[in-house]
Amino acid sequence: MFKEERRATILNLLIKDHSVSVSKLAVLFNVSQETIRSDLCYFQKTGMLVRCYGGGIVNRQTLSRFITKNKIDISSTLATPTNKDIRLNKDGAKMSGKVCILGSFNIDVSATVPWLPQSGESILASQFGFYPGGKGANQALAANNAGADVHFIFKVGNDQFSAFALNHIIQSGINSYCAYQTDDAPTGSALIYFSAEDGDNIIAIYPGANMTLSKQEINEQQGYISEAAVLLMQLETNIDAIEEFVHLGKLEKKTIILNPAPYTKNVHHLLSSIDILTPNETEASFLSGITITDIDDAKRAGYIILQSGVKKVIITLGAQGSLLCEHHRTLFIPAWDAVVKDAAGAGDAFNGALATSLARKSDLVSAIQYASAFASLAVEQEGASSMPQHEQVLHRMRTQSHDIVNIK
Ligand code: ATP
Ligand code: RIB
Repeated sequence: MFKEERRATILNLLIKDHSVSVSKLAVLFNVSQETIRSDLCYFQKTGMLVRCYGGGIVNRQTLSRFITKNKIDISSTLATPTNKDIRLNKDGAKMSGKVCILGSFNIDVSATVPWLPQSGESILASQFGFYPGGKGANQALAANNAGADVHFIFKVGNDQFSAFALNHIIQSGINSYCAYQTDDAPTGSALIYFSAEDGDNIIAIYPGANMTLSKQEINEQQGYISEAAVLLMQLETNIDAIEEFVHLGKLEKKTIILNPAPYTKNVHHLLSSIDILTPNETEASFLSGITITDIDDAKRAGYIILQSGVKKVIITLGAQGSLLCEHHRTLFIPAWDAVVKDAAGAGDAFNGALATSLARKSDLVSAIQYASAFASLAVEQEGASSMPQHEQVLHRMRTQSHDIVNIK
């Protein structure tokens, strides 16, 4: 059977059965599992299939785009996609820059409270809801909205939240992703208390399935890592998977950004392989042993972190802005003015936009300015996963002036 015929049959099976299994298809077509994996990768790239452990699940939303007059136009799906590296923004301008993100998906269980409760205190919440979140998913969404060509690698449980996760990723418009699934742990979750008083928050994260990624699964992503300009990750997935991701990225000489959130002491040995580290002030305090209360403290902390071998450190300082620490200079980039509604996810917005801007070959300072403007718009929206669009960021950058301060 020719490849096209086999792929057409797989597509029909997907439509009929909703999901397919690599081992069953290999037996059915009498070909190797490798051949079937490459078929499934092909469908994943068209957006019609979401890869999951042992096979794939149909993405009906994308599939529906290929249906005309109640017929599926298989020929167009089987043709080799062209221009797959080029996306157009709303103005028709070419967008480019590939970012590969390894990270978490969490269900955010969020309560808006009048103030953050003290130990032993019970208070009434004025709002409560379930939202898609997780630093990985939020950063992938931020990078996508900033205009990057994103590939997102994540893992969920085998529970009712996994469908919610897939649905969120599919709806988000992220054009490439690989969702692994495990029976051994539930989909990750986060309990968020959000203060109506000052927009502050506290978060307890249960990573669940996010912590079960295997080295083999990361290795399966090598093709996407090779294609990307920038790799981005956080610390809500298991450290050995992160290590493998960094290792593959180093071999390919990619720009590697680590957002060390939430802090874990297991990260220190990885730092010498990282190009850009983006701690917030709490994480920078843990990494350096310096309590950060002002910009001078942040500068000292940044200098200590640089001794670990990481090439550049950007310490984000919330509403104040961020500090770029390099061996030869320290620059303070003030935050853009914003009317804050919900500051949760500001760091995710910043990191996704930073990676995108660097993948578009911006210099580091311009990339930080873009990321700051992007994050200032993200805090004006409710929900950690609410991200602005590239055009809004350009508008903010045109309408506010913004000085960079050289710290002696
Ligand atoms: P989170 O954990 O809530 O996702 P974070 O602590 O990792 O956030 P922050 O340091 O709070 O990250 O914010 C990241 C960047 O977002 C800041 O450097 C700044 O540029 C921007 N930002 C954060 N808060 C505000 C704000 N209130 N107004 C404008 N910009 C903000
Ligand atoms: O950075 C915000 C995110 O942190 C939330 O979406 C939550 O899931 C936690 O991972």
